[in-house]
Amino acid sequence: MKTLVLGIESSCDETAVALLLSEKEGEAPRLLSSIISSQIPLHRLHGGVVPELASRNHSANLPALLRESLDKAGCTVADVDVFAATAGPGLVAALLVGNTTGKALALAAGKPFVAVNHLEGHLLSPFVAHPAGLVPHLGLLASGGHTLFVDVRCIGDYRLLGRSLDDAAGEAFDKVGKMLDLPYPGGPEIDKRAALGDPAAFDLPRPMLHEPHLNVSFSGLKTAVLYLLPKLCPSGNPHDLPEQMLNDLCASVQQAIIDVLIGKAMRAIRQTKHRTLAISGGVSCNAALRTRLADACEKNGVEFILPPNSLTTDNAAMIAFAALLKARAGQTSPLDTPVDPNLRL
Ligand code: KG4
Ligand code: ZN
Repeated sequence: MKTLVLGIESSCDETAVALLLSEKEGEAPRLLSSIISSQIPLHRLHGGVVPELASRNHSANLPALLRESLDKAGCTVADVDVFAATAGPGLVAALLVGNTTGKALALAAGKPFVAVNHLEGHLLSPFVAHPAGLVPHLGLLASGGHTLFVDVRCIGDYRLLGRSLDDAAGEAFDKVGKMLDLPYPGGPEIDKRAALGDPAAFDLPRPMLHEPHLNVSFSGLKTAVLYLLPKLCPSGNPHDLPEQMLNDLCASVQQAIIDVLIGKAMRAIRQTKHRTLAISGGVSCNAALRTRLADACEKNGVEFILPPNSLTTDNAAMIAFAALLKARAGQTSPLDTPVDPNLRL
């Protein structure tokens, strides 16, 4: 059955709207439009996300984004079969903007609403354009707020195998970036600099890497960098670091994070016996992580599925896709479904 889904994402610092059309079950849906308005330049001035500014901007941007997204897709609100919005986790006032808008549209159009867990959206994002659709697999979700190893059986059936016990992988990139006074967010900046540096230049900790469980910890990494900085330059000011040394440090930090993610992902593959690994979340657009995971999967005879870069960081296409699968499974949401800033998978 033909289904047109309108998805809204507003959990943090990106306002996003997408229209996803499924012509037939069993065929990959078509993304008619996916528009993201990033607030990163605004929050960069403050070195991180300011919740009040985020929600005000979602509220100011969303109507125009909806208009643009519908126009680009060549459809109207009346054509939409399912409305969806992120319900959590995230910043509560930011979530409320997109969520309330999605519910109001559903109410006005007399169509169902689907409240989508942001984490589920990320987890399913590698399958938006995958011809085989969703298959049972090991999911590695690495974003600014979460690092999760998940046994995904089918839509709505997720078993959490391991997670970060402190900082998420993206948070580790961002905190080190802040320490080095790189522009916010640190992840993409470290990625760029790491490509010019030596990943073996500095010996940084890889906690829990060899322990048999699937949890990880990244908070020791920022402490290690904090103690290392004054040894590298007496002023302790990152701007006094020679350019090459800064690049080497970025490469070494990135290598430590990637070693842990790959080590645990491969351990999880051995434990679950899954033959497919899918990665998602902002950190999954890291170039070195993609290359090294692809190699590790090839060596182990594991299929590696990753979303296009445009679907790794926060977007509404993943929200619309999760809603499509949920609506098909009969999992629509009453209009009084609350947002939950601490929603779990
Ligand atoms: O998925 P996402 O947009 O938001 C959350 O749900 O958290 O992820 C944002 C995170 C940030 O921590 C950012 O630094 C990180 O993804 N990130 C990267 C890269 N691009 C974004 N980390 C490493 N390398 C990148 N290229
Ligand atoms: Zn996210």
